[in-house]
Amino acid sequence: MAIVCHCEVVRDSTIIQSILAGAITLAEIQESCGAAQQCGGCELAVVALLEQHRSPNAVGAAGGHSSSVATRPV
Ligand code: FES
Repeated sequence: MAIVCHCEVVRDSTIIQSILAGAITLAEIQESCGAAQQCGGCELAVVALLEQHRSPNAVGAAGGHSSSVATRPV
């Protein structure tokens, strides 16, 4: 259980809970647990957790293409 977002002190387990509760985009994770809303330094780690834990049946994940995860431009 590591802290992924140091700005908002959000752990990986909290992010995974958001994903399992239905968050399928970065914006939804940001809204549900507060991660990745400040410096953006954790954004890639949050997206990686999203890729690893979201349901293959989630809307927007049809075909399992990982490129469907929305991220903001860097
Ligand atoms: S470490 Fe997550 S927004 Fe800064």
